[in-house]
Amino acid sequence: MSTVLGKPTSRIDGRAKVTGSAKYAAEYHVPGLAHGFVLNATIAKGRIRRIHTADALAVEGVLDVFTHEHRPKMAASNDKYEDEVAAEGEHYRPLYDAEIRFNGQPIALIVAEEPETARFAASLVRVDYEQKPHATDFVARRNEAERGKHQHKRGKAAKAFDEAPVKITAEYRMPVEHHNPMEMFGATAVWEGDGRLTIYNKTQGPQNCRNYIANVFGLAKDKVRVLSPYVGGAFGIALRPQYELTLAVLAALALKRSVQVALTRQQMFTLGYRAANIQELDLAADRDGALAAWRHRVAAMTSRFEHFERPFVTWSSQLYTCGNVELGQSFVRVDQNTPCDMRAPGGAEGMYAIECAMDELAYAAKIDPLELRLLNYSDVDQAEDKPYSSKALRDCYQQGAARFGWAKRNPEPRSMREGNELVGWGMATGIWEAMQMKASARAVLTANGSVEIASATADIGPGTYTMMAQLAADCLGVPLADVSVKLGDSTLPHAPVEGGSFTTASVGSAIHAACRAVRGELLRMAQKMKDSPLKGVKVDDIVLADGHIRYKTDASRQVSVADAMRLGKADRIEKEASAGPNEKSKFAHSTHAAVFVEVKVDEQLGIVRVTRAVSAVAAGRILNPKLAGSQILGAVVGGIGMALHEETAMDHRFGRFMNHNFAEYHVPAHADVPPIDVVFVDEQDDEINPLGIKGVGEIGIVGTAAAVANAVFHATGKRVRDLPITMDKVLFG
Ligand code: MOS
Repeated sequence: MSTVLGKPTSRIDGRAKVTGSAKYAAEYHVPGLAHGFVLNATIAKGRIRRIHTADALAVEGVLDVFTHEHRPKMAASNDKYEDEVAAEGEHYRPLYDAEIRFNGQPIALIVAEEPETARFAASLVRVDYEQKPHATDFVARRNEAERGKHQHKRGKAAKAFDEAPVKITAEYRMPVEHHNPMEMFGATAVWEGDGRLTIYNKTQGPQNCRNYIANVFGLAKDKVRVLSPYVGGAFGIALRPQYELTLAVLAALALKRSVQVALTRQQMFTLGYRAANIQELDLAADRDGALAAWRHRVAAMTSRFEHFERPFVTWSSQLYTCGNVELGQSFVRVDQNTPCDMRAPGGAEGMYAIECAMDELAYAAKIDPLELRLLNYSDVDQAEDKPYSSKALRDCYQQGAARFGWAKRNPEPRSMREGNELVGWGMATGIWEAMQMKASARAVLTANGSVEIASATADIGPGTYTMMAQLAADCLGVPLADVSVKLGDSTLPHAPVEGGSFTTASVGSAIHAACRAVRGELLRMAQKMKDSPLKGVKVDDIVLADGHIRYKTDASRQVSVADAMRLGKADRIEKEASAGPNEKSKFAHSTHAAVFVEVKVDEQLGIVRVTRAVSAVAAGRILNPKLAGSQILGAVVGGIGMALHEETAMDHRFGRFMNHNFAEYHVPAHADVPPIDVVFVDEQDDEINPLGIKGVGEIGIVGTAAAVANAVFHATGKRVRDLPITMDKVLFG
């Protein structure tokens, strides 16, 4: 029984975070640091005819103004701009040429001794544009959709739909949303003076940024070091290198000086976003509620220059038992920046529509919504006809429903009331792929018993530092306090971007492998002892505890770690190891959830409040219920935001997002967040990886918006199908 795994453990970087000693990328100050302020385009499409920088350059303290006409050399070919998670297409290049591709595109970097000077001087730059007509309205252009990547067909969906006795057809919409992490983008490019650059950057992937910068500026990879030790939230927006990084490096190379570029909150709305989408669903069932036909069509937006598309309909192909299925995605190109992954990309959106449609079908069939899901439960991935390595979704439904009190629900809409408020209960299913990527880690054990673990992953908030320390402490039998963790540094052993909920499975498996290699080395040393009590023992038959290497089933057969290392003439044991997914697996791998929500809706004012939520999650082995629980809490809050608050509004006359601030872009505040009950159901998975880990970063948001929308219907009898569900739609929609 592990002393650290599975225990609710506070984050080891918690003190650094709350005291502010954990520095973000734009909080590094080095001698001679110059500051860059980005100027953004005010048109959506066209060209820069002339850019007038003389007035800005004349300001005292301004060092230079960089534009497409005045910048160091950048790579010419598209592949040099392709980062590890880039969308397909002609990748955007900051300050590369005169062309304007989206409103808010950076067109100049004003660099000065002080940030205020740079910002003021930026206001003096004038731009003559050659404007071209733009089209930014995705909904208006839906008829120009192009066929997307995700298509699926089995059985005869059209015929089955026509013949079925119970059916629904509905169209759901979601607006553009922005990630809005607490920390804004920043890059501090430190000019080391010897041809090396050290860059502090907000990123989910320091090696992704290192490779990108090396490629774009033709630098050797070992001359560029990207550090991202602490990140103030990201939710996907920091998966790809963003333009503040490119511009800070560009200026540092040109000025041969350290340069910092920090974005404003407004500028955060010029980066990627969750793509607006329209989803049409036709569901049919027989009189007993068995699904007879399932059609799901999606149109989502992307930019003109890159094809960004995430799987919305794949969940429709796999989740429920149905033989007649027809699914298709399309995409619409508009004159905006490329969308970017945002927490559970494809899943959060697709499952919003799917789980609302299932609720509508439940009403049409006069079957309890939870019962309908159980009736159509599938133990196999329906698309691939593969069994799941584990799927404890039934337990999620049962335990979530029990906690929530679902059995007491009267299915009749508008049947519950408290004073001025109508009360509604809704539920939904969540699903997310449990992925694992190739990753490496290094483990060092020193003779005094301290351990250091290192991997080039990031910790964007989920508690990666803590997870890494826990795994090492467990495997090497040392207290958590004796483990130090290094991450967020491109020079460390390889790791992919922190995303897709795959970090613990990927990096965790590498740590496990590295620590196991250390144990193997220790055991070999211990076996060198004359008449070693561990003679003939295998590495998997030992445990490390209390400074000793012990035979698992006979604790009297032991050698102290110190003695073993003395014998091995080692003051440290260092091992690096890699781990990757099991490519030959015959199983499908998913996490699942069931979410139950109570809302109260003011009948006169149309104000919707979420007053209770239960999220029951099956995600394999939970290493740290406290931090994993926080992941679910945060994701449920994100789901509430998606359902009730978040929407980035564009003025299509200018092709510009208008509510680019926290006053007008609403995210849930504390008063919007009810008590959220997180339940992790037991789910043992011996197949997925040696640790049985699936990941929890995203599952909590999947289905939550649908549960809220379904609860609003139950409360009011009104289906609001376009998010967010605001009071105007509740009253007059
Ligand atoms: Mo996540 S959207 O892969 O950061």
